[in-house]
Amino acid sequence: IKIHITDRDGITHEVDAPTDMNMNLMEIVRSYELAPEGTIGVCGGMAMCASCQCYVESDHELPEMGDDEEAMLAEAFYVEDNSRLGCQIHLAPEMEGLKVTLAPEE
Ligand code: FES
Repeated sequence: IKIHITDRDGITHEVDAPTDMNMNLMEIVRSYELAPEGTIGVCGGMAMCASCQCYVESDHELPEMGDDEEAMLAEAFYVEDNSRLGCQIHLAPEMEGLKVTLAPEE
């Protein structure tokens, strides 16, 4: 699928994201090097750091937040109503055209 990721410099990238590799959004950002090493995915995708926080800009229905994600976002900085943890969003075909913006670095 194609998704649109706006990096922390405000530049939007259209990237190809596989849906058959059980990858999450944080891993996609890392694989395309859209954020410097060490500033995203710090906890390795365990919903424990919020470095992968992003704002969902399109109106896609995403999987519900788990308790871990909700708890982490309750403590994180720069949280908005459309905040999610990228590492908790596993890519699926219905996310074609998804638009997200990376939250500022904490
Ligand atoms: Fe740490 Fe997502 S990578 S919360």
